[in-house]
Amino acid sequence: ASSTDFSRPLLAWYDRHHRSLPWRTPPDETKLGVLPDPYRVWLSEVMLQQTTVGAVKRYFEAFTDAWPTVEALATAETDDVMKAWAGLGYYSRARNLKKCAETVASEYGGRFPDTEAGLKTLPGIGDYTAAAIAAIAFNRPAAVVDGNIERVITRLHAIETPLPQAKPEIRARVAQALPHDRPGDFAQAMMDLGATICTPRRPACVLCPIADGCTARREGTAERFPVKAPK
Ligand code: ADE
Repeated sequence: ASSTDFSRPLLAWYDRHHRSLPWRTPPDETKLGVLPDPYRVWLSEVMLQQTTVGAVKRYFEAFTDAWPTVEALATAETDDVMKAWAGLGYYSRARNLKKCAETVASEYGGRFPDTEAGLKTLPGIGDYTAAAIAAIAFNRPAAVVDGNIERVITRLHAIETPLPQAKPEIRARVAQALPHDRPGDFAQAMMDLGATICTPRRPACVLCPIADGCTARREGTAERFPVKAPK
């Protein structure tokens, strides 16, 4: 295996150490190989766009209790949705959420499109969210890149190019490493690694499943990455 082939040890680590998060359950997260509900994946990804995992959990539970399906959300009162969103901020996200639910219900028979391109046509779904839903809910080989994943990849390859210029290189590295059998788990494993091991400060390299292939680890420079362009 080359140094770019870190997906196997990463997935083995994820199988043992993944975070239990409500949107990952379909309905029992130990049912390996069962894809999560696209509605729940979409809702969580929109909530997580500018809000932390810890803060999102209870909002996610409240939303899915009140509106368990995309059709239920589509027919909800906008006022009720805005009230349930209160505290999450960025209220345009909530308005797009409602619009998107209405579109999926009326134009797609209640089923989310299962490709990145199809997903991107929907209100509030941009490049990141389309890739995340395609990978996590439909097991499409989409390159998902968020802030956590940028940190993991720039350290792994000691990418000196600053952000945001490094984005194309990061995306290419993720695409190259994608395991085509488990792209959704790969994306979420990278997120979990970034959140719990490959942290911005004092990364826990001794616990890292892909430390062997990590250039920054070898050179003792992990905390220097990602390099940021001066503002
Ligand atoms: N942040 C954004 N999407 C996430 C996910 N699916 N799991 C954990 N953290 C996330």
